[in-house]
Amino acid sequence: MNLQEQIFFEKLNSFINTKTLIKLTLTAKRDKTSDLKSIIVTLVNLKKGFSLSFVYRHNTKDITKNYNFEEGLDLVKKALESDFYSADIYSNTENINYTITPNGKYHLKTNEPTLQPITTFFHDRVKDRLISAEKNVYLRELGITNANWEIRREMSDKFKQINKYIELLEPYLNELSFSDQIHVADMGAGKGYLTFALYDFLTNNQKKNVKMTGVEYRDELVTTCNSIARKSNFDNLNFIQGTIEKTALDRIDILIALHACDTATDEAIYRGIKADASLIVCAPCCHKQIRKQFNVTNELHNVVKFGILKERQAEIITDSLRALIMEAHGYQTNVFEFISTEHTPKNVMIVGRKIRERNPDRQRLFDSIAAIKQLFGIEKHYLETLLEI
Ligand SMILES: C[S@@+](CC[C@H](N)C(=O)[O-])C[C@H]1O[C@@H](n2cnc3c(N)ncnc32)[C@H](O)[C@@H]1O
Repeated sequence: MNLQEQIFFEKLNSFINTKTLIKLTLTAKRDKTSDLKSIIVTLVNLKKGFSLSFVYRHNTKDITKNYNFEEGLDLVKKALESDFYSADIYSNTENINYTITPNGKYHLKTNEPTLQPITTFFHDRVKDRLISAEKNVYLRELGITNANWEIRREMSDKFKQINKYIELLEPYLNELSFSDQIHVADMGAGKGYLTFALYDFLTNNQKKNVKMTGVEYRDELVTTCNSIARKSNFDNLNFIQGTIEKTALDRIDILIALHACDTATDEAIYRGIKADASLIVCAPCCHKQIRKQFNVTNELHNVVKFGILKERQAEIITDSLRALIMEAHGYQTNVFEFISTEHTPKNVMIVGRKIRERNPDRQRLFDSIAAIKQLFGIEKHYLETLLEI
């Protein structure tokens, strides 16, 4: 097996085992006359456990067969030897193409992920929810469940949102390895719905040793949340009254900032970058800072002359620049929909995983950021101001 092929199969094996493979496609058939056009492989959760589902796409029909991981990987190898020249992995964290040329050369190429990360397909039955309602004190105290541990009808969307949030984060959390205690900061924790759920998941499902701090400037919320944490016996979860900008925290391994308004999101990302956090998760809202700066003098002025479209454009530019700045600081960044817009319009999530100290493409990213700003007549993104870029 050549080196590229070896790396490809190691990666494929790892994505399968961590359940972060979205799909694998085998294309570019070797025999042009063959009726088999391509093979698409995905993970499925069957009664007997996880398997690989192969869809064999023929000219006039599709045939589906399920295999265990070992058999499946073996079949992929054989198909690459005899039926196809090209294989594409789409995973939560990267896309990888492995190609064999007809004259026997091998190419391996890695790109940014392009598909929405998979999280939920194996948790979609109620009984499989990552956060269970039964005897979960904080859910009762927050009014999500009643005295019988049943989800209150008017809170069922909130309960789904909490589970969706944990499902989205699960693959990222699975990837982290800490030998000692994990320090988590939730900036702008609010009523703590998602803070409690993340603490519950990390300590009770993942059995991690966690110290979590919710930072919130509304005193009454801090008092209520601390009281619920004590009732729930969540000993290492504390809420502190203070600001995202100034609250002293000795270490941050995971930084969360959900729906922290406008530049409070930048303050949070800044703190994550400065603390060298392994994971930064934010769901921005109220994108005012960039919108106010828009000064478009090129053809795009017609795009931003309509109020609602200007607003949306400002959101896209604000969050794109955040994601690019994070990439320049060594984070691999994904941006995806958090919850469907029918529940809230604040639905974009930016997740950055620290993968290296220094991005070798740093200058190219800064040049790109400068070009985007010039296009929209933006002077400075607030995150740049904080980072003194
Ligand atoms: C929209 S709520 C979101 C609460 C929670 N993170 C969630 O998503 O359910 C935003 C919270 O952040 C707090 N907040 C906003 N800016 C803050 C800042 N600079 N420092 C501390 N708390 C802040 C607000 O008081 C509010 O409770």
